Amino acid sequence: MLYMLDSANIEEIRKACDVFPLAGVTTNPSIITREKKDFFSLLKEIRSVIGNKMMHVQVLGTTTEDMLKDAASIREKVDGSLFIKIPVSDAGYKAMQILKKDGFGITATAIYTPQQALIAANCGADFTAPYVNRIDNISGMGVNVVSMITDLFNLHGLSTRVLAASFKNVQQVHEVALAGTHSVTVGADILWKLARHPLTDMSVEQFTKDWNAQYGEGKCIYNM
Ligand code: E4P
Repeated sequence: MLYMLDSANIEEIRKACDVFPLAGVTTNPSIITREKKDFFSLLKEIRSVIGNKMMHVQVLGTTTEDMLKDAASIREKVDGSLFIKIPVSDAGYKAMQILKKDGFGITATAIYTPQQALIAANCGADFTAPYVNRIDNISGMGVNVVSMITDLFNLHGLSTRVLAASFKNVQQVHEVALAGTHSVTVGADILWKLARHPLTDMSVEQFTKDWNAQYGEGKCIYNM
């Protein structure tokens, strides 16, 4: 399962990339506006931090024509591995098919139902992003939706991948992983919570204490 970071904050991205083997970064218009920076300068800054990892950038246009223009403009200014995020609206489904023919990487987003994901896959989406927590907030059982989408893609032999998104806690991420999602995108807070455990730190502290008691402070294996 691929892990991506759902953020446009340079410091968060830098710290996460320094430690974790992230597959990429995802953004949406709300995430971008939080940074209060020039849009394209910010994307270029993100690119310089993540190298050629995937960057998923959402269009703002709500008509097919505007989505196509947004996508072209993003591709013109952002190099490297790029996926254009298109919401699964009527205009979006149409845009996806045209963008696919033009060779764009596509991430279908704002997905709430399995059928939306299946249709997006047929439109040529490389990734489909169901919104787990937002689905939970309407009692729609986000993890079940991810599970059904994953099953549908496997059942129909589709290469489109599930990029589960919108998480508010670690348990949701764990459950979509068990459901077989191909990838997740999580905020920095959740990413660190997934990776850390206080008992791990306590174990390491005890190893160091035992070692120091025998060999003296500051001794590592390389300077024995
Ligand atoms: C990512 O692709 C989505 O835009 C994002 O995960 C939505 O998350 P939110 O529901 O926390 O805003």
